[in-house]
Amino acid sequence: MSDIRFDGRVAIITGAGGGLGRTYALEFARRGAQVVVNDLGGSADGTGSGSAMADAVVKEINEAGGAAVANYDSVADPKSGEAIVQTALDSFGRVDVVINNAGVLRDKTFVKLTAEELELVLDVHLKGAFFVSQPAFRVMKENGYGRFVFTTSAAGVFGNFGQSNYGAAKMGLVGLSNVLSQEGAKYDIKSNVIAPIARTRMTEQLLGPLAEALDPECVTPLVTFLASEACDFTHETFSVGGGRYARVFCGLAPGWFAGKAAKPSAEEIRDHMDQIQATEGFTIPAGIGDEMKLLLDALKG
Ligand code: NAI
Repeated sequence: MSDIRFDGRVAIITGAGGGLGRTYALEFARRGAQVVVNDLGGSADGTGSGSAMADAVVKEINEAGGAAVANYDSVADPKSGEAIVQTALDSFGRVDVVINNAGVLRDKTFVKLTAEELELVLDVHLKGAFFVSQPAFRVMKENGYGRFVFTTSAAGVFGNFGQSNYGAAKMGLVGLSNVLSQEGAKYDIKSNVIAPIARTRMTEQLLGPLAEALDPECVTPLVTFLASEACDFTHETFSVGGGRYARVFCGLAPGWFAGKAAKPSAEEIRDHMDQIQATEGFTIPAGIGDEMKLLLDALKG
């Protein structure tokens, strides 16, 4: 099998001035991509800004013989999202890949969380991915090709104490990617999600003794594959970190059918919880249509 290459392809990577995003930028460029290295250049909690982080990665790529351009816009604004995509078009003439990776943390328990801390985290993770992806999607649709990778987190998919704002934003990205995978299907636009675990400035205080095994570069190969022409997968989510790569899925159990248009009592629901909760025989719907089909089958008997 041939090597995975990105010759002639243009990739936008948000938050690529450090951590995971930097590793993607270096690897894509090494494999021939022209890369937009976007980074606001602030701190892990979203305060401050600067050009040094993105510039350093662009310099590293250029010195290794690759092609990259820096962009310092915040993803958290519709105009900036447009500007990030325009940077790709002005510098390299097209957009083939978007890696939605930029992120910040404002952790607090739910009762203490302020509206501002909710908004900032939703703005950067969820709306930011939306603002960059929408103009990019329009270009990809015209070109009949595109690859999106969104970055969720176990904190959203499975839950984590003290991260209600982050968990909500991160789970929102799974929904966004699932819809893009459907709207992009006929234009060869694929959209997938990763839930990484890696040692970066965002997590270095949290990982304890595990940190050493969680090199960000363990995540890079999966993102490289998902961003490439070789990837035919779409509508998927993967857990990735420390050398393990695993599908995460939203399954639908067969459940309990009470009868056509039945309105069982709350007590009957209670009494059937074993059946309602049982996972044996589950399916993985590729969209709302698959769920409706199962319901129709049950209604038809
Ligand atoms: P990081 O803090 O090193 O990288 C995040 C980057 O995003 C930073 O370079 C930052 O300057 C940039 N950024 C922040 N706000 C921005 C904005 N408004 N516009 C543009 N750039 C902005 O952290 P890490 O770990 O590399 O995070 C990458 C992504 O992975 C994030 O979305 C994070 O939530 C996610 N993630 C990371 C995990 C881990 O174990 N490291 C776990 C789960 C998810």
